[in-house]
Amino acid sequence: MQQSVSFPSGKVDYIFYRKDAYSRPSFEQLMHLYHLQNVVIVTDEHVAKMYEPLLKGHKTLVVPPLESSKDLHTIGALSRQLLDLGADRNTLLIGMGGGVVTDIVGFLASVYMRGVSFGFIPTTLLGMVDAAVGGKNGVNLGLNKNLIGTITQPKFIFYDTAFLQTLPNIEWSNGFAEIIKYACIFDSQLFDELSANNISHYKDDSEVLISLIERCVAWKNKTVTEDEKETGVRKLLNFGHTAAHAIENMYELPHGKAVAIGMVIACMLSEQITHLGKDATVRVKALLQLYHLPVSHAINAAKAMEILKADKKRKGDHIDYIVLEKIGQAAVRPLPFDVIENALKEYASHN
Ligand SMILES: NC(=O)c1ccc[n+]([C@@H]2O[C@H](COP(=O)([O-])OP(=O)(O)OC[C@H]3O[C@@H](n4cnc5c(N)ncnc54)[C@H](O)[C@@H]3O)[C@@H](O)[C@H]2O)c1
Ligand SMILES: [Zn+2]
Repeated sequence: MQQSVSFPSGKVDYIFYRKDAYSRPSFEQLMHLYHLQNVVIVTDEHVAKMYEPLLKGHKTLVVPPLESSKDLHTIGALSRQLLDLGADRNTLLIGMGGGVVTDIVGFLASVYMRGVSFGFIPTTLLGMVDAAVGGKNGVNLGLNKNLIGTITQPKFIFYDTAFLQTLPNIEWSNGFAEIIKYACIFDSQLFDELSANNISHYKDDSEVLISLIERCVAWKNKTVTEDEKETGVRKLLNFGHTAAHAIENMYELPHGKAVAIGMVIACMLSEQITHLGKDATVRVKALLQLYHLPVSHAINAAKAMEILKADKKRKGDHIDYIVLEKIGQAAVRPLPFDVIENALKEYASHN
């Protein structure tokens, strides 16, 4: 199935590849569809090793499979390697991997020779439902997440859930953190559906899984088409992410786990700010645990606050924080630093 979505900055083709549920991943179809010739694939070491036969015959650059690869040094090194491969403005870059790879490739393609075309083949659940979608890309600056980047849309996103057959359990959970995020902020029906099921339900039935992915992609696209530059409704997608970004690199947590903890902190803040019922926080925590995600973690509130003060969403001594009004409905509230710091301290005191 192929569907195009137009964003202010460009049109993206979403290609859902269904051969048969348990076939080996393929992107030959993609190559034919776009008459791709002048292509460089960028991936990480894990994916390169696991999918070596697929990459055979294609120019491929490989980065370490780590969040720490998302830095300016990698962008410089990859640019040099592209130049050595003879990549020019007609070259198309393909980011094949998880969010680390697609964030790097989106940014690299936006700046290499002032911009070349690019497409994504997300190979993690988190990448499929979130990181590859919406055009945000970028790298970290020290502990500060995604501080340097652009918003540039890929030409296409190619979905082949066969890649997920090799995904470790922990990465399934990390992907579900973002899926639970969509449920919390937009979709109480999805929240109920997730609560009534578990990872195996989605993992074992590729049609059920594909419709879950499509539902999340639809939520993200709806939000991004309305507000690509994040001046309004797109901010809601940051639910759980403000605190997550403060602790993710500090404790070297996977993004999904950091977001799970961030969502619990955001629920605690919501109890104060929007009078979200305590029962809603309990339900969010139970759902996170059902998908094997953490709800508690020892954190250094003062240190987290220091990182938070450099957050992109900072406005003077306030930060636009995403709170829940109820399950399935979120709001943006500018919160003073001291309110956030108290919530972090309270969370820290319970763990
Ligand atoms: N740009 C955005 O809008 C956006 C949104 C959400 C997250 N992100 C970013 O995405 C990153 C997290 O992405 P992620 O969770 O995909 O992490 P990741 O890219 O680090 O991948 C997780 C692990 O899975 C491995 N892997 C990838 N595909 C695999 C496969 N098919 N089989 C087995 N192993 C596989 C990777 O090598 C890695 O070890 C973070 O840096 C986060 O900031 C960006
Ligand atoms: Zn995220």
